[in-house]
Order: sequence, then structure tokens, then C-alpha cells
Amino acid sequence: MHQLNSHIILIGMMGTGKSTVGGILAEQLGYSLVDLDAAVVAEAGMTIPEMFELHGEAFFRQAETDMLRKVLSRGGRQIIATGGGAVLNPVNCELMVNGGFVAALTAEAETIIERVKGDTNRPLLAGNAEERIRTILEERKHAYQFAHCTVDTSGLSADEVAQFIL
Ligand code: S3P
Repeated sequence: MHQLNSHIILIGMMGTGKSTVGGILAEQLGYSLVDLDAAVVAEAGMTIPEMFELHGEAFFRQAETDMLRKVLSRGGRQIIATGGGAVLNPVNCELMVNGGFVAALTAEAETIIERVKGDTNRPLLAGNAEERIRTILEERKHAYQFAHCTVDTSGLSADEVAQFIL
């Protein structure tokens, strides 16, 4: 196993398993785990749907960038699981690629739909979640390509994905 000297940052669409894989990596490497969405929610004192509804998506995106900057500037080694849209701001991509080892998780649309269906905590999937996933995947098809490595998680367990990254 490599000795890494920096954070490991997980990027990828909703439902690709970033938080779950992040938990496994943190445990195996003895790093602390930061779930960026959870950190934003804790600081804002409201859920992501509430942030979108009360203040709009731009408010959430700004909070996401502020938190990413804050987390990356910490010492120590962390596994940072980001939200699927964190890559939409080029400033964030720059911060991530310079701040650690960036691993992108991908999955087929069907796999993602299966994993996130019925979820009410993702405002971007409100309405027809299946259609929304397909549209967002198309919109973001190049957005995760700046990663240092990419893992197609379809058909893999979270443990297998973590081993691949290691
Ligand atoms: C989003 C993904 C979510 C969360 C927010 C927006 C996105 O995180 O940050 O609902 O734009 O793809 P997950 O990828 O953890 O679901």
C-alpha cells in the first residue's frame, strides 16, 4: 500500500458511493473522514433541501466552496467525500487537484438511479429522479475528468472500490 502524504478527495455523481467508500478508506488508512455535505449542513444549521428552498442553490454552492477551502487547509490527512456538484465550480477543482489525491467514482445511470431512488435529501432530483439523473449525467459528463484516477463502481462493492483506490 502506498504511503500518501496528502488528503484523498472523492468526487463523482450522486449515488456513486463517495461517502461509503470514504468511510472505508478512512478506517483502513487511519485518516479522519470529512463528508463535505455533512460539514456544510452542520455549519449552516439546516438541511440541504432547506438551504436550496430558503436561500437558493447559489447559497449552497458558496457554502460548499467555503467549506472545501477550510477543510483542505487543515493539517493532517483526511479523506474528503465531496458532493456531486462540487466540481461545477472551477475554483473548487483547482483547490482539489492541488490539495490532494483526487479519485473520481463513476457508475452507469441505471446503477445510480437504483441507489438514489426514493431519496428526499437531494433537491436536484426532485420530480422525476430518473430523468434528472440522466440529464445531470449528460451535463456533467466531462466534469469529473480532472481526477488523478477514476473508478467505475458499477458491479463493485464499496470495499472493492476502496481497494482499487488504495
Ligand atoms: C449534489 C449532490 C449532493 C449534494 C447536493 C447537490 C449535486 O451530494 O451536495 O444535493 O449537485 O450533485 P451527493 O453527491 O453526496 O449526493
